[in-house]
Amino acid sequence: MRQAIQNLEESKTREVANAGMGRSDVLAFWFGESDEVTPDFVREAAIESLRKGETFYAHNLGLPELREAVARYTSALHGPVGSERIAITSGGVNALMLAVQMLVDAGDEVVAVTPVWPNLTAQPLIMGAKLKRVSLQPVDGAWQLDLPALLAAITPQTKLLIVNAPNNPTGWTLSRAEQQALLDHCRLTGTWILADEVYERLYYETTPNGCAPSFLDMARPDDRLVVAHSFSKSFLMTGWRLGWLVMPAAMTPHMGKLVEFNTSCASVFTQRAALAAVEGTSEVTPRVVSHLKLCRDTLVPQLQALPRVQLRPAAGGMYAFFKLDGFDDSLAVAKRLVAEAGLGLAPGNAFAPEAQGWLRWCFASRDVSRLGQGVERLKSWLAL
Ligand SMILES: Cc1ncc(COP(=O)(O)O)c(C=O)c1O
Repeated sequence: MRQAIQNLEESKTREVANAGMGRSDVLAFWFGESDEVTPDFVREAAIESLRKGETFYAHNLGLPELREAVARYTSALHGPVGSERIAITSGGVNALMLAVQMLVDAGDEVVAVTPVWPNLTAQPLIMGAKLKRVSLQPVDGAWQLDLPALLAAITPQTKLLIVNAPNNPTGWTLSRAEQQALLDHCRLTGTWILADEVYERLYYETTPNGCAPSFLDMARPDDRLVVAHSFSKSFLMTGWRLGWLVMPAAMTPHMGKLVEFNTSCASVFTQRAALAAVEGTSEVTPRVVSHLKLCRDTLVPQLQALPRVQLRPAAGGMYAFFKLDGFDDSLAVAKRLVAEAGLGLAPGNAFAPEAQGWLRWCFASRDVSRLGQGVERLKSWLAL
């Protein structure tokens, strides 16, 4: 077995969840998904596809009509992007892994902005790359980027910059000016940017296109930029395992080969569902976002009112990431909260060592009152 694989850490969030999964007395907010089922019209499209017998292998890069629809969707948000720049993948995580396989050789240097969803830092390690972490800094409960430090970390030796904004778990988002500075700098150093923008639509600030700033807003079609996306979050489709990549057109045929050797293709019936979802985005996404905003605005003030809790409302994403003063070991606290309070949260150190002492609460709850019940449990536990 390769040492790089043996060295991979198991998910600390899973470790907490394993302790409480299946227990009906636990209010679980540990995973990054809504508890709302995929909309009916999306599920119907998959059922119809199966009825028609679409049970065969399909194109490596995805159904042409879905690639076209995703290109139209992307163009409406960020300006012209042709379908020759789109690949449909088997989930956002698969999109990210394909991009890393495409760009990173063993021994290459990869810079990642952390804290971040652990898959993003594990993927370059799987390829045998050297990982350099640049940490966001917490200031009064909000995580901020030290842009000069990040720029200084990216040198001509840096093959790839990985950045996830809006960020899981912190909710931090890159500004347009920061994106432009990173793009300009990476053009000079010859560094690729892998931008994980799966939370771009889950953004709570007012913007003309209703989504978070994207590298696609300013990049040229041939820039060294790959953007990873997912149907999971904005379309309530976590279990369907579908995502997509936007890349320079010259990369696309090579991506087709890489998909062949990974998964061959995404299944057709799920792609039919994704087609319905992306074409019906106005029926799904705005409702999802306004509900998530309600969840955020319900949970955050209640948490802020507790002693020892430090947090700021996230600009994007679906998480409240907070520091619990007086508790240094996130994993131990998360396990105690499950066992002693019936509250399931993800430990901050699952996302970076510097987030030790922090906890992540996924606020994507269909029933908003569950959030208040969770806060009550935390409050009583803190008072013990
Ligand atoms: C930052 C980030 N990127 C990508 C993904 C991948 O999502 P999926 O594989 O469900 O499409 C997730 C899922 O939680 C995420 O948090």
